[in-house]
Amino acid sequence: MDKKIALLGMGTVGSGVVNLLRENEDLIHSSSGVRFTITHILVSDTVKTRTADVSGIRVTDDITEIENADIDLAVEVMGGIDSTKDIINKFLKRGIPVVTANKDMLAVHIDELEETASENSAALYYEAAVAGGIPIIHTLQHSLNANRISKVMGILNGTTNYILSKMTFDGWDYNDALKDAQAIGYAEADPTADVEGIDAARKTLLLARLAFNKKFTLDQVNLNGITNVDIKDIKLAESAGLTLKLLGVAEDLEDKYNLSVEPIFVDTKHQLANVHYEKNAVFVNGNMIGEAMFYGPGAGGYETASAVVSDMINSAVITAKAKNIPEEKGEPATELPDSAYYLRFNGSLPEAESYLASQDIQFEILSTEDAALRTLKMSAQTLQKIQDTFAPAAVYKINGAE
Ligand code: NAP
Ligand code: HSE
Repeated sequence: MDKKIALLGMGTVGSGVVNLLRENEDLIHSSSGVRFTITHILVSDTVKTRTADVSGIRVTDDITEIENADIDLAVEVMGGIDSTKDIINKFLKRGIPVVTANKDMLAVHIDELEETASENSAALYYEAAVAGGIPIIHTLQHSLNANRISKVMGILNGTTNYILSKMTFDGWDYNDALKDAQAIGYAEADPTADVEGIDAARKTLLLARLAFNKKFTLDQVNLNGITNVDIKDIKLAESAGLTLKLLGVAEDLEDKYNLSVEPIFVDTKHQLANVHYEKNAVFVNGNMIGEAMFYGPGAGGYETASAVVSDMINSAVITAKAKNIPEEKGEPATELPDSAYYLRFNGSLPEAESYLASQDIQFEILSTEDAALRTLKMSAQTLQKIQDTFAPAAVYKINGAE
């Protein structure tokens, strides 16, 4: 079976796709019976030197050339939100399936695109959009669909995990670690989306949508990135056996939904504390499977291309695709579960200590000099009172992972 492909974008991921297809062409053909031929590539700069061999392929900066071309599948790895959604919609309306890695666009437009796909008997594939090379989308759609899922949670951004790992283990400065992540190709074109947690929020939304079969909007994700993380807190908590991770959490709290992205201290013995550098991990709690964890590379050209090409193969060989169009909106939870916290105060430890004791909240002092302590579980309301009264310099959940 021969399939003609238009590849939209030829940066980190697009180059990985071209190189992967060349390197594994025979293997893919022998295992799936499919042979892909890239006929068109869309870029913004047609004279730029490429790291992949594009000989014999029409490289253009004119999308209209591709929109009307004779292709079987469009693969979008260029980024962009509204204009890219319009391009994808046009392919789907022609009945052409689309594979995309673009979580920025999907987090806003997935419901509309899934509707167009369904109306036109096309299909939309987006395995690479969440957690890079980890096959979590396919897993939720096809492998855990016998479960009622109560929680999906994980390290969903390779760039921030890389930065936190470099700061924690290698003593790197935040800015050097970010520059390194950009140079390797983990970071987004604008890394603000990575470090402010927006990228992880988009992925959390996509996971929640599949896990709970509800529609969500980005403003439903409570968001806090890593830009204000102080190495001092990482070091103070390290001695207490805690490791800081940026976690995306989506939980079903009795048919109301809590979606959040924030740095959380995780017990060093917990599996998530041992997911380092650009690696991602996703935990899923299902009522039949219990807890399952999926671990692997969260970013990178070949790692992401692995997911993109797997979608390409599946689009050719799987005829019945799971229908994933939620009908209802997921209502936000108003009451959040209790949690343990790490707190560092501005020199007001004795007052905070007496307040915690008066509320019967157990705690352990981590550093008197730095006024840092960890509490056992307390309510979000109590935390709010502590924040209002003492304005702590640092606040992190602990083991929200559990
Ligand atoms: P990238 O390196 O910046 O590459 C983007 C490519 O798209 C470039 O080839 C660029 O052309 C082309 N392009 C961008 N805007 C265009 C436009 N308006 N018209 C025509 N061509 C355009 O990005 P990337 O890292 O490969 O990421 C691509 C997508 O995959 C993004 O949606 C990203 O969020 C997603 N993703 C990335 C990773 C990763 O590890 N990098 C992982 C998962 C998902 P030029 O080459 O001419 O500049
Ligand atoms: N910038 C993203 C990350 C790419 O660092 O995880 C993969 O989605």
